[in-house]
Amino acid sequence: MFRRFLPFILVGALSTLFLLSVFSGRQLSWRNIPQLIGLGEGYGPTVEQIASGENILPDLREGKTQPDEEEWRTFKEPKIENMSPYPQGKTKPAGSNYTKTLVVPRLKSEPVGWIEKELGDLIESKLLKTAVYTVDDRKAKLHPPKNKGHEVMVYLSFIIDNYEDLPDVSIFMHAHRFAWHNNEIMDTDAAQMVRHLSPERVTREGYMNLRCHWDPGCPDHIHPGETTRNSDKQEEVILGDCWSELFPFEPIPTVLAQPCCAQFAVSRETILRIPKMRYIFMRDWITRTELSDYLSGRIFEYTWQYIFSAAPIHCPSMSACYCDGYGLCFGTPENFDRWFETRFRLNEYKEDLRVWEEKADKIEQWRKDTKDGKFLEEAELFVPEYGKDVKLRNKIRELQADLDKSKKEAFERGKDPEQRAKESGREWKEGDGF
Ligand SMILES: *[C@@H]1O[C@H](CO)[C@@H](O)[C@H](O)[C@H]1NC(C)=O
Repeated sequence: MFRRFLPFILVGALSTLFLLSVFSGRQLSWRNIPQLIGLGEGYGPTVEQIASGENILPDLREGKTQPDEEEWRTFKEPKIENMSPYPQGKTKPAGSNYTKTLVVPRLKSEPVGWIEKELGDLIESKLLKTAVYTVDDRKAKLHPPKNKGHEVMVYLSFIIDNYEDLPDVSIFMHAHRFAWHNNEIMDTDAAQMVRHLSPERVTREGYMNLRCHWDPGCPDHIHPGETTRNSDKQEEVILGDCWSELFPFEPIPTVLAQPCCAQFAVSRETILRIPKMRYIFMRDWITRTELSDYLSGRIFEYTWQYIFSAAPIHCPSMSACYCDGYGLCFGTPENFDRWFETRFRLNEYKEDLRVWEEKADKIEQWRKDTKDGKFLEEAELFVPEYGKDVKLRNKIRELQADLDKSKKEAFERGKDPEQRAKESGREWKEGDGF
């Protein structure tokens, strides 16, 4: 008799267990089964739970999403201000390929066709993968659990979703191809930056800010102890409070600095140095914080370098960044500076020409408006200098050619791994790669 009912009893008991677990707030999914029947810690909150904003607090209260203090020490100490305390990552033998993934958050309305169009050859040859998260479309194949905290939510989601299967190098960038904060010698073009990015430098350094230019952000941008509001960096005064929530065992640094704008590349080794739970914890923080998206995003903008390199200040030499990071080597710091001086002069000529053309247009207009052909006296003041436009155009052409030429030569120089080592001040011996 009993044996006949055994299957029913078993099924009943299991269902009850499941139902209880579900009612206790755990999501019913395959991944969580061990957790549901009490056979392990599981993965913490699921994506759905985080999205709903529910049921993440109990874990936090138990402190499970935090490493303990001991654990924290081992991966955070010792700390040197402008240098990561971690040993350099080991590069592969010269000539090896690296797997790379370009992680991009986008709005539905933002075009990202440039990625396929400009980097299609890399994608085709499997040297580059893409992970484009559409933040405001829950039907998109990739989307974050919640549209909050700008790029932070997506960057962390990528790490959490791919923690067990990361590429050698993860490249975190915005959706726009051209932006003022992209590298100027690469025409502020994100596609060129991805194409030329040195996976070896990222692997060696562990963390690399994709922007080489210091301004804004370096050498000392945020002073977390600051109590006076600065409208250029509103996040400064609230950083202290956020810091103690995000890094409860870490004393707050006196300065946080790195080039602006939250685009960077990280090696697998570096991402894995931090337990997955920490990333989940940080994403939970973003999910729950009452700060505006703008501010919570900004908090991370000057914190990523600290998270990945444990150094509050990350301001590598600009020319080393260009040479070792992208293979644009100018040979000497003077040549490097000269490129920018030339471009500055070029922009001045362009501005002069613009003013000249504006005057010329105005005069033309006046001529048309004056029926009897008599020239207004005040118009005389605006007559542009005769022939100056031709001179300016020639000058512009000349300087542009000069810039293009030295950029080309810089790329040539950068094909030599020894040159890259030299310009970035590291040792190199025969047979070493980039
Ligand atoms: C690197 O990848 C390219 C493109 O897929 C391939 O042609 C080449 O053989 C690879 N090199 C090595 C060393 O695996």
